[in-house]
Amino acid sequence: MKIDVVSTVPFEDQKPGTSGLRKKTRVFMQPGYLENFVQATFNAVGGARGKTLVVGGDGRYFNADAIQTIIKMAAANGATKVIVGAGGLLSTPAASHLIRLNKADGGLILSASHNPGGVDEDFGIKFNTANGGPAPEAITNAIFDQTLTLCEYSIADAANVDLSTIGRQQMGAMSIEIVDPVSDYQSLMESLFDFAKIRDLFASGFTMKFDAMHAVTGPYAKAILEDALNAPKGTVLNGVPKEDFDNGHPDPNPVWAKDLMDMMMSDEGPDFGAASDGDGDRNMIVGRNIYVTPSDSLAVLANNAHLAPGYKDGISGVARSMPTSGAGDRVAAKLGVECFETPTGWKFFGNLLDAGKVTICGEESAGTGSDHVREKDGLWAVLLWLNILAERKQSVAEVLKDHWQQFGRDYYSRHDYEALPIEAASSLIAKLRSFLPDLAGRTFGFEEVTRADEFSYLDPVDGSMSENQGIRVFFKSGGRAVFRLSGTGTEGATLRLYLEQFVSRDGNHSQDTQEALKQVRNAALELCELETLTGRTKPDVVT
Ligand code: G6P
Ligand code: ZN
Repeated sequence: MKIDVVSTVPFEDQKPGTSGLRKKTRVFMQPGYLENFVQATFNAVGGARGKTLVVGGDGRYFNADAIQTIIKMAAANGATKVIVGAGGLLSTPAASHLIRLNKADGGLILSASHNPGGVDEDFGIKFNTANGGPAPEAITNAIFDQTLTLCEYSIADAANVDLSTIGRQQMGAMSIEIVDPVSDYQSLMESLFDFAKIRDLFASGFTMKFDAMHAVTGPYAKAILEDALNAPKGTVLNGVPKEDFDNGHPDPNPVWAKDLMDMMMSDEGPDFGAASDGDGDRNMIVGRNIYVTPSDSLAVLANNAHLAPGYKDGISGVARSMPTSGAGDRVAAKLGVECFETPTGWKFFGNLLDAGKVTICGEESAGTGSDHVREKDGLWAVLLWLNILAERKQSVAEVLKDHWQQFGRDYYSRHDYEALPIEAASSLIAKLRSFLPDLAGRTFGFEEVTRADEFSYLDPVDGSMSENQGIRVFFKSGGRAVFRLSGTGTEGATLRLYLEQFVSRDGNHSQDTQEALKQVRNAALELCELETLTGRTKPDVVT
């Protein structure tokens, strides 16, 4: 096998964000751009020599080309083996599972998650470590340092690999194993959930729609829901993965999964609705006439996990990202287990899961998961909900209402202001930061501030510190507003305003969410001077 050592010059913009490196697809298609990042990743982890790597992606435009490049670079860098999902497909949770199952040294996952795909849309790559989880900041920083000084990369001068045929191939001394993307993941799900009980649920006439959004979970959902659990054919919608997600935006929220939402918000709608994103790690859960916020979903799953065989002995703890509502905290308190508050980004859960401190984690950004892998897992959340519904023999609405009666309700919504000029967004945050010392005791509209700070996180496992993770303002009413800039966007800056209002057990649990949040929202907007600084009067997305 001939190896080319190619001279290159650094790209200055390869700093990984919340979830790996994400850019416009054309940026990745520039000569050397992907190659530099892959070589920098290998260099940052002590080289690829002798290592086994899992490689796969969500099937978006440029996925297959990128995988060919990565395989050739792994071979040239001396890797022993690469395990690749057939067709180049692997959902993010399935990739995490394959890394763990095969005791691989890590993996490269190609995806821009819930961002649209296509030559003019987004692409991304991230490195996962041997525990199956996204690389922690120490490694992503080391990768970034490498990208700034890189002067050459190595690539095998070899023919493209046949990605469609399951089985072994060879590239020089490196073996390439093309695997079915679904089967190992499906076995894992069968080990956690009571498939017979869920089968009975479907046999009793329970109806469901799962919107795969033309993204990677289509084949997983069909195999598990329709083939293994006997849900009627047609339960999975948009189940064929497409390079551009059929010109869609594969983000499972009420805005981008509107067709499913419309179907569910009707007395004749299915009993249960769900959707997942581009790479299958996010989920949306909907009942007939009721939307379950991701923060509530985390709380309900934590409180009921023991009903599924995989969690029958209970959970060791709960973790949530800081902007996620406090609903999960209340469940942890009742269960007598610890609740951890981490910065946004699944990578912060990895240490807690590895140390056995938590079993279930979740984020407001439609992510829930457990210690079965080291990524959030869309279909896992759907199956746990199904298992719970099958055991409790209640509707989604009944489960939620019971939950609020027991714990109180955290009304919750996120307002996104997208594609802001970076300077305007940064100065908004800088101004807020400068207000912080004097906020307590001041009143904005009807809301009095009790405390305000900028969130930082001391990892209790490895002692690392992450600062500037979002500004939190707590109000006397039990409300909270959080201001944070997104770390996953590819255009300008996105300001996320997270709004929360707690209403106690005996309060009114049937208000309209935006209505319940009105006072907190008005106070937050007055405080951050959004309109003056950005000219924006309305959010682009409300979840
Ligand atoms: C990805 C990450 C999540 C994160 C989300 C939003 O999905 O895996 O952990 O919560 O992005 O991040 P952002 O920085 O855009 O708010
Ligand atoms: Zn995703």
